[in-house]
Amino acid sequence: MNGANPVPGGMQGTVGSDETSVFPGSLDLEYLNVERGEGVWLQTTDGRRILDACSGGTLAACLGHGIPQVVEAADAQARRIAYYYNHQFTSEPQERLADRLLSLAPEMARVRFVSGGSEANETALQLARLYHVERGDEDRWRVFSTVRGHTGSTMGALALSGDRSVREPYEPYLATHLHVPPAAWRADATGAEALAAIDRGLEAAGPETIAAFFCEAVSASAPAAWGPTDGFWHGLEERRRTHGFLVCVDDVATGVGRVGSWLSTHQLPIEPDIVTLGSGLGAGHAPLGAVLCRQHVYDALDRGSREFDLGHTWDGAPLPSAVGLAVLDVIEERDLLTRVHDRGPDLRDQLASAMEPLAIVREVRGRGFLLGVALAGHRDLPFPRSTAEDIARLVDDIALEHELLVRTVHAGNDPEAGVEMVLAPAFTSTDDELAEMLERAATVLERVQHSVDASPRGTP
Ligand SMILES: Cc1ncc(COP(=O)(O)O)c(C=O)c1O
Repeated sequence: MNGANPVPGGMQGTVGSDETSVFPGSLDLEYLNVERGEGVWLQTTDGRRILDACSGGTLAACLGHGIPQVVEAADAQARRIAYYYNHQFTSEPQERLADRLLSLAPEMARVRFVSGGSEANETALQLARLYHVERGDEDRWRVFSTVRGHTGSTMGALALSGDRSVREPYEPYLATHLHVPPAAWRADATGAEALAAIDRGLEAAGPETIAAFFCEAVSASAPAAWGPTDGFWHGLEERRRTHGFLVCVDDVATGVGRVGSWLSTHQLPIEPDIVTLGSGLGAGHAPLGAVLCRQHVYDALDRGSREFDLGHTWDGAPLPSAVGLAVLDVIEERDLLTRVHDRGPDLRDQLASAMEPLAIVREVRGRGFLLGVALAGHRDLPFPRSTAEDIARLVDDIALEHELLVRTVHAGNDPEAGVEMVLAPAFTSTDDELAEMLERAATVLERVQHSVDASPRGTP
């Protein structure tokens, strides 16, 4: 360990894999030890003050850190009762949170609470399968899902991802779904190619085997802040009607206001059958996710076995539910949805201007408070796979040197995806904090640019 100031418990500065009992995500990284957070600022034990431009790194802390109203709601609920399992019981916070979510998404009919995004997607998969089984369509199990994107780390959710670099060691456990675009947004501006790939998949697998189409409406990773065109969604709607599969949208990263609407699906021309939420619902103050479904999905079980009993220990527990309610209160009382919706386009334009001089920047995208900066190598070519990982790490490292937390994504096996820097500030960020974020982000990428330029092969 290094760092200047000793802290209680003896831990300080940064922590490497050979200095900890924790099994870290990367055995090569030195982890910064954060001791507190306030708003968009993270304070490390060695006195660094990091501007959190990514809502805790996963987009979860969408209101910033240490929101008094949420902390007080959690405290009050924990004093009454924090936990019991919802097998025989329910609670007022769970009931009220479900009602609140349905009032914000009236197209939906029921809510199942879980602890996070992977559990939400896993549960949505199970629900889609049950929907068909209950209706006597037992052959339907396969899912169309998109080639890219992070869908979760549990085996069911991981099987939705088509990213071979993530799937590889776990392949024996992963169901063989059909991985299709939308992926090649540059080559397929209208979505026609993606629809053609779905048609080919339907023909090859047989439409009677397809349970669902699963995708984000607005992608949170490469390509960040991008979504398929209306033409694609209309085409999908036609195929849903003809072939009887469900449309499930993973709104884990983009729901609860991130892209300027309560659900990202409210910006689509069609209504999905199932939507999953995670990250922002607990706003980084409690682990919380949800699966919302429309009436006909619920009806299939209502008229069938009347059981959907697989669950997880923390599903709908009083403490996270009370946190979820407080999060929605804060968003409504402070009119943060309007803030994200109205400020988002300017923020994207300001980011694009800040990035203008940098040859390494290939494209800037933005939807609400979700911003993506796509990076390219020489002659606007995506970085090769071997380089993408290095570039992503370089961006992370230089950002932290400038006391800025960003998220980098790289889709290793997809040359079009390249490397992206994702910015997703808290909805509560002031204009000064947003300006500071843009300034630091530009400085970081300038340094990345110098490093790439200095290398004869365009690698860091
Ligand atoms: C779009 C999307 N889906 C699913 C997940 C998985 O969520 P969790 O990490 O809460 O299990 C994530 C996490 O970042 C995500 O961004």
